[in-house]
Amino acid sequence: MDILDRSVARSPQAPLDPTKLPFGRTFAPNMFMVDWDEGKGWHDPQIVPHGPLNLGPAAMVLHYGQEIFEGLKAFTQPDGSVHLFRPDRNAARLNTSAGRMCMPEIPVELQLEAMRKLIRIDKGWVPPPPATLYVRPAMIATQEALGVHSSNRFLYFIITGPTGPYFGATTTAVRIMVARDWVRAAPGGTGASKTGGNYAASLVASAVAKEKGCDQVMWLDAVERRHVEEVGAMNLIFVFDGVVTTPPTSGTILAGITRESLGVLCKELKLPFVERSIHVEEVFQGLAKGDCTEIFGCGTAAVVSPVGELLDGEKVYRVGDGNEGPVAKKLRETLTAIQFGTAKDTHGWMMKL
Ligand SMILES: Cc1ncc(COP(=O)(O)O)c(C=O)c1O
Repeated sequence: MDILDRSVARSPQAPLDPTKLPFGRTFAPNMFMVDWDEGKGWHDPQIVPHGPLNLGPAAMVLHYGQEIFEGLKAFTQPDGSVHLFRPDRNAARLNTSAGRMCMPEIPVELQLEAMRKLIRIDKGWVPPPPATLYVRPAMIATQEALGVHSSNRFLYFIITGPTGPYFGATTTAVRIMVARDWVRAAPGGTGASKTGGNYAASLVASAVAKEKGCDQVMWLDAVERRHVEEVGAMNLIFVFDGVVTTPPTSGTILAGITRESLGVLCKELKLPFVERSIHVEEVFQGLAKGDCTEIFGCGTAAVVSPVGELLDGEKVYRVGDGNEGPVAKKLRETLTAIQFGTAKDTHGWMMKL
């Protein structure tokens, strides 16, 4: 499918300073859009200036939340070229989310071509390391109709923007509150999909966490309220007696691409890696006894973020010495070296634009 180019040419007013790019606040000048209509499929892909969408107030996304999204990054390489990290995995996950949310799949090749073309046009907005260009594809229901049913029209679009670390400096340990009063996802629900409603439902817990001086919330399973699931925008990894341990992707957590990649790197680095259910009490006891030496989150935005403290009600549990541990450091350095092109990409994870 040919993508129509109606972009504007605009360069940043000043050189992009990686230390002054808060996450998700600056946007590149252009965006990609393609429409889907029942009976017609995907049609009229185009690149247009970043700006408001033409959306009626009855558009179904605004009432029933039929929406999915993705998040990935493009990295400036030492030779000045720009590479995306595993965009095929994000494109595939978008289609998995689409299936769950009763939305049409969009060919992976169209998604990749859209990203390639858009980022090539806005290449001047890909910042130097350690900053990156964050890429946000999304799909929304655009049919103007009330009444709960699936939309017969959809819009898929991609916006991008230069961005710095998600939590300030990536090696600063974060403080996480265990959520006891709310759950994020139940079996059979939408926890494994990247859909806006999951995030909207998490905001009240995040607000309470913030009041208590925490950065994010640790979710427990909805049935027994005992097993660790994930945090707001990251999967969780624990080091128990030297074993890198993470909860399984059993349908209630997002199957993170960073998580999957770290599993591969652990095997190469000869670090034992297991996926198994983790009881929250096991974590507290492990921290008290010294068996649980590290906890860290991982995700596209957060990269590898050490957890320094866990808060459960009035109790505070310190993780190790409260700073980044050796396993988190090794994995962060190994992953980011591949992403920024200072180590060889032996897995074919990086896609050149
Ligand atoms: C709820 C949730 N879990 C985990 C992740 C990490 O996924 P990924 O590594 O693909 O960015 C994210 C971020 O996308 C997320 O929003």
